[in-house]
Parts: sequence; C-alpha cells; structure tokens
Amino acid sequence: MKIIRTKNDLSSEIAKRCEAGDKIGFVPTMGALHDGHLSLVKCAKQHSSCVVVSIFVNPTQFAPNEDFDSYPREEEKDAKQLETVGADILFLPTKEALYPDGYGCAIKAGKAAQGLEATFRPTHFDGVVNIVSRLFDAVKPDIAVFGEKDYQQLQVIKEMVETYNIPIEIIGAPIVRTDQGLALSSRNAYLSEDEIKIASTFNKILRNATQTKNLDKAKDELLSSGFDKIDYIEIRWNRVLGAAWLGKTRLIDNFHV
Ligand code: PAF
Repeated sequence: MKIIRTKNDLSSEIAKRCEAGDKIGFVPTMGALHDGHLSLVKCAKQHSSCVVVSIFVNPTQFAPNEDFDSYPREEEKDAKQLETVGADILFLPTKEALYPDGYGCAIKAGKAAQGLEATFRPTHFDGVVNIVSRLFDAVKPDIAVFGEKDYQQLQVIKEMVETYNIPIEIIGAPIVRTDQGLALSSRNAYLSEDEIKIASTFNKILRNATQTKNLDKAKDELLSSGFDKIDYIEIRWNRVLGAAWLGKTRLIDNFHV
C-alpha cells in the first residue's frame, strides 16, 4: 500500500493507475478504523481495481461543542489494518492541502440534509459535503463507498453528486455489528464496559420498532435501558433511524422497515 500525503503526488499516482487501465475506488474516512471501515474497503475492491482510502478528521463537520479535539487519531494502527484488506493507496492529507483558502465552499448540502441529524448538528452536513467534494476533486474516483450506518449522510452524498453532476457512482455498504448487534463506530471507543451493555440494547429496540412502528414506545424503552437522552427516532427512506446519548457518547443506528 502506498502512503501519499500531498494532492500532487496523489494526482500523479492516480493518473498512472488510470493509464494502466485501473478503475479507481474511494473510501473516505476519519480514521480510528474498525471492521466497519474495512468492510467498506472490501466493498470498494469488489467494484474497482485500485482502492484509495483517505484519513482526515474534518474540522468543518464538527460544531465547536463537539469532539473534534478528542476524536481518536491512530494513523499507524489504521495503516496496518488497511494493509490487511488490500487497500492500494492511503491518502493522508493535511488541513492546509484540503482547505488552502479557508473553509468556504460553493457546494451546499441539499434536501436530504433536512431534519434528523441536522436538527441536532445544524452545520454538520455542509461540513461533510465541503470535505467530500474536495476529496472527490483530489482523488477523482469512479466509485465511492459510504457506510449505511450514517444513512442520512449517504443520502446527502447521493443527492450532492446528482445535483452537481459529479460523475462518481456512490455505493452504500451495510452496517457491521458486534455479536450483540451494536453497530461498529469509532465513537464506541468512548464507551465503558457497562455502557457497551446498554448501547447493545439500541439495535434491538430499533429493530423492534421496525415491526411495531411505535416510536414513542421505543424512546421509552431506550430511556429505561439506561440511555440518557434521545435526539430522535424517526422513519424516513423506509428506515427507522435513531440517535441517542449514553453519557457523553452520541450513538446513531438505523434499520430497514
Ligand atoms: O463518515 C465519515 O467518516 C465522514 O463523515 C467522512 C465521509 C469521511 C467525511 O469526513
């Protein structure tokens, strides 16, 4: 796996790969990789012949009160894991390379970004489309893979490529879960052992809500299981989607109805 840190080096490497006939797949990440991310790489490998993974903790998608500073950064460990699944290029850009002229962005998140996450993180999706459009520009992939765990993000990105005629196929990959059904997330690293037990009820309660459609009951069940606060449980895109707080950790998950 090649580790590349500048946009120029990336462009020349990608140009070489394209001349050699490669189809470029892309998996953007913020690092602290787990099996969920590795499954995205495996999925990208099925749809392309050269997979680029980026690691960049993007400041514009965090609000000032959020966990940008404490977000886990584990570059060496991440690189080793990516080797095991056959990623071809690891792109590790700096903030200066991606935002050379500040954080302004002509591309804005569309309708898919209304409600749900955006009610609680109003600047989040503009930050996501800002960075993803910049990364797409740098990598110029044929396909890009995003996890279904961030289901609203996946819809926002699909809408972005349609609206701005970006010629990249967006592929959604299924959520990877622990044996207890907890959706893998870099933020699970914040949870204590006791909190992991409580967090593992989230998926069961949401899954049950896909049958009952009783979202108020699901909220009550989450609070009785030990969750501290529910941001939302709603049905959209034929999915039950939820976000809830356990101590200082905010978890999200979703299930097909
Ligand atoms: O899903 C994520 O990890 C991030 O939102 C992404 C897509 C890498 C953009 O920073």
